[in-house]
Amino acid sequence: MARIVAGVGCSHVPAIGAAIDLGKTKEDYWKGVFEGFERSKQIMAEINPDIVIEVYNDHGTAFSLQYIPTFSLGVAAEFQPADEGWGPRKVPVVKGDPEFAWHLVESLILNEFDMTIINEMEVDHGLTVPLSLMFGQKDAWPCPVIPLCVNVVTYPPPTGKRCYALGKAIRKAVESYPKDLRVAVFGTGGMSHQIHGERCGLINKAFDKSFLDRLTSDPEGLAKMPHMEYVREAGAEGIEMVMWLIMRGALGDNVEEVYRFYHVPASNTAVGNIILKSKS
Ligand SMILES: [Fe+2]
Repeated sequence: MARIVAGVGCSHVPAIGAAIDLGKTKEDYWKGVFEGFERSKQIMAEINPDIVIEVYNDHGTAFSLQYIPTFSLGVAAEFQPADEGWGPRKVPVVKGDPEFAWHLVESLILNEFDMTIINEMEVDHGLTVPLSLMFGQKDAWPCPVIPLCVNVVTYPPPTGKRCYALGKAIRKAVESYPKDLRVAVFGTGGMSHQIHGERCGLINKAFDKSFLDRLTSDPEGLAKMPHMEYVREAGAEGIEMVMWLIMRGALGDNVEEVYRFYHVPASNTAVGNIILKSKS
């Protein structure tokens, strides 16, 4: 039986990917960010998952405004890094696992989560930056990755409660897969940031800390937070954090927080990382 062993919450700031790719990680502005992720990489190497389900949002790369699925899942054998305007990131091709992905899709849809099925898709920084931060720069990613996309770009995004319930359905789907796989679930995006308008540059450290605390200890309560509270407290793009609730729902009730890292700023955003182990 497959089982979920760990969950990761991780920002997916595009400038972090550029800093890695351009060799700037030791520069004064960036070193505080990357030093914090050294321990993350060690922990992930110890956890050594067989497969990752990565929850992220597409940023107008794979989906234009013509098609905006609320929840979608990639079932392809591989996903090429996307060209987001500066050429594709020079990171490995993301290998999927069609058999496992189709099992997830079947289980989720038959359990009332109507996922959009994606047979072909390029993946942007939302997916590749957390992989770089958790696994380092590799010739190949250490395991297959199943992309699970969430619309947090166009109103209305799904509620935190719905995201948390999707996580629970993912857990059920994973545990009904007959192969022995140790699965990690990533929730990406955030933390507090707004990249436009009068409040551009907004950071709210107190909110971010509270979000991380509650993600570990009070996910049921956190899942009830309305969209307006994310937007008011964490900025318009802070709504990305609802995706972390999918990861948290997948981990079950009993978790151990094994690592947390938080840093401001990185390209006008607050960067956060949390690693949880499932104890049940
Ligand atoms: Fe994003």
